[in-house]
Amino acid sequence: MNTILEVKDLSVEYRTDLETVHAVNGISFSLHRGQTLGLVGETGAGKTTTALSILRLLPKPTGVVTAGEILLEGVNLLDLSDAQMKALLGEKMSMIFQDPMSALNPIMKVGEQIAETLILHGAPHQTKKQVEQRVEETLELVGIPAFRKNEYPHQFSGGMKQRVVIAIALACQPHLLIADEPTTALDVTIQAQVLAMMSELRNKLDMSMIMITHDLGIVAQVCDDVAVMYAGEIVEYATTEQIFSPGAHHPYTTGLFGSIPDLKGGTKRLTPIEGLMPDPTELPSGCKFHPRCPHKMAQCETVPPPTVAFENHLISCHLYTGQAEGGLK
Ligand SMILES: Nc1ncnc2c1ncn2[C@@H]1O[C@H](COP(=O)(O)OP(=O)(O)O)[C@@H](O)[C@H]1O
Ligand SMILES: [Mg+2]
Repeated sequence: MNTILEVKDLSVEYRTDLETVHAVNGISFSLHRGQTLGLVGETGAGKTTTALSILRLLPKPTGVVTAGEILLEGVNLLDLSDAQMKALLGEKMSMIFQDPMSALNPIMKVGEQIAETLILHGAPHQTKKQVEQRVEETLELVGIPAFRKNEYPHQFSGGMKQRVVIAIALACQPHLLIADEPTTALDVTIQAQVLAMMSELRNKLDMSMIMITHDLGIVAQVCDDVAVMYAGEIVEYATTEQIFSPGAHHPYTTGLFGSIPDLKGGTKRLTPIEGLMPDPTELPSGCKFHPRCPHKMAQCETVPPPTVAFENHLISCHLYTGQAEGGLK
């Protein structure tokens, strides 16, 4: 299959005079053309940092990539100059940020905001008329009638505003779209509509997508593969089907599933994983999940678990160390 993105052993820190935050600690994953990878985990797991690293948008000078490679269509993005990177943004990849509503300019017509992106990244040489036509096409792509280009963001409902944000991200038809919790602010019905639309557009435009979320329902709806993140590491990496199937799982993944409320029965208790994500300035030794893990063994406190292939997917947990069907990494 055609690999569009390959992240290898990526580590990222935020450095200040007072402390070093170990936000991402040696993660690896890859993404094929036309596929969607879900990046899931609790707040603080390092999901947004991973996305910002790929787009080279980490805050300067605190955010530092300390190790690894990020290959987009074979090119290591970490080797590119700022100017080369700027040329790539929009056209090759684009991002929908967490809190997308604040991405819109309240005093600018939505059509102008899409045109701005087109002119900046995708179509510097196009005539005004051509840009205007692309604006209309882009709006229609996300299900907004073209005439609404002359309206301001406040004239749109939450769900429609989110479509505008998606239109801006898709204006230049990027090969890779990174969506950071894109529907958290929407109510459930609208959320489902927006997600369905995003999946449809992904197919139509033959785009690849990274969907960042803490919601396993969203994973089930849109993702092909899933990487479960904890304390800056990928603890389990599998197809969506495998993640939702019984069988071998990282105890953290099992815990995440335990925190889904049962909406139908109403009797099943919400069982969130006890405890908190460790302080990223002082990560625990051994397995970073051991302080919260119900299956903790002696070695978990001292030895970091290797990533092994088990039941056809990757798990980093001592429960499976030594039983693996073949070491990986
Ligand atoms: N600009 C920053 N400066 C210092 N620490 C940061 C910064 N941004 C994020 N962090 C820290 O990095 C860790 C990972 O954060 P983030 O990538 O935002 O996680 P997620 O998106 O999974 O919630 C957290 O501990 C967070 O507090
Ligand atoms: Mg985040």
